[in-house]
Amino acid sequence: MLRPILFMLLLNLPFLAKADEARSFRLAADEALIETGLLAYLLPRFSLKTARRAEIGGEAADLRLSPSADGASAFTRGETVYYLEALTDHPAARIFTEWLLSEGGANTIAAFQPSDGGPTFQPPAPQVERETALFEGDAAAGAVLAAQHCGRCHRVGGTKDGMGIGSTPSFRALRSLSDWPERLMAFYALNPHPAFLRVEEISPDFSPDAPPPIVPIVLTLDEAEAIQAYVASLEPADLGAEIQHQ
Ligand code: HEC
Repeated sequence: MLRPILFMLLLNLPFLAKADEARSFRLAADEALIETGLLAYLLPRFSLKTARRAEIGGEAADLRLSPSADGASAFTRGETVYYLEALTDHPAARIFTEWLLSEGGANTIAAFQPSDGGPTFQPPAPQVERETALFEGDAAAGAVLAAQHCGRCHRVGGTKDGMGIGSTPSFRALRSLSDWPERLMAFYALNPHPAFLRVEEISPDFSPDAPPPIVPIVLTLDEAEAIQAYVASLEPADLGAEIQHQ
């Protein structure tokens, strides 16, 4: 009985729109900070962790991140301290503040490598175990999900399992790359995945003009985090120092 369910969904649309509003807030940030790429790095990770979204924009902002803001110190770069100032009591902005000031947020800030060659950003709190702390999902569940979904193309585990396809990196090879946390964090947004893979609440819908070329993979946030935790737990393949994945 599909129809009554669809009908109920349609009736509920205004409520869904409301819920969406509560999940997305506006963040005002200095142009110079935006240009460093830090926010483009932080915000998808924040979304993946919390199912909330931040839109950058100065007008009617809920939260301000700036050296001249008046609030908790979020991070420093060189001599500059950036502060977080709540301008409204938007719930998603509160969650962002909590996340950014948490250990997970601090680790994410510290992992960012600015491409302008300037100093890295430093969270205010001391850092611990940054790489594994980034991936807190259920690795055991992730092993099963990875074999089921990613094993179509990747070798997902030890030496024998999964066929893998030609140029697709095995997960253990991926783990041996120096920037594996960045690649793993963003896998759903990196090609070729967006064409056939979505993480609920984060990824845009598949385009009706370009339907997925294979049976699509749709993961919940928990499932995506479980897979990430599993890959993070793998022992890196010993490829020798020379091998670089393009
Ligand atoms: C239909 C095939 C296919 C499936 C299914 C697939 N991948 Fe991939 N993936 C690829 C290919 C091809 C690449 C190499 C892209 C490149 O090197 O540009 C890749 C690269 C990656 C990378 C490295 C990204 C980078 O840019 O370095 C990660 C991480 C990754 N995949 C994770 C996953 C996870 C997790 C899953 C399962 C949820 C998955 N993939 C499912 C084809 C696939």
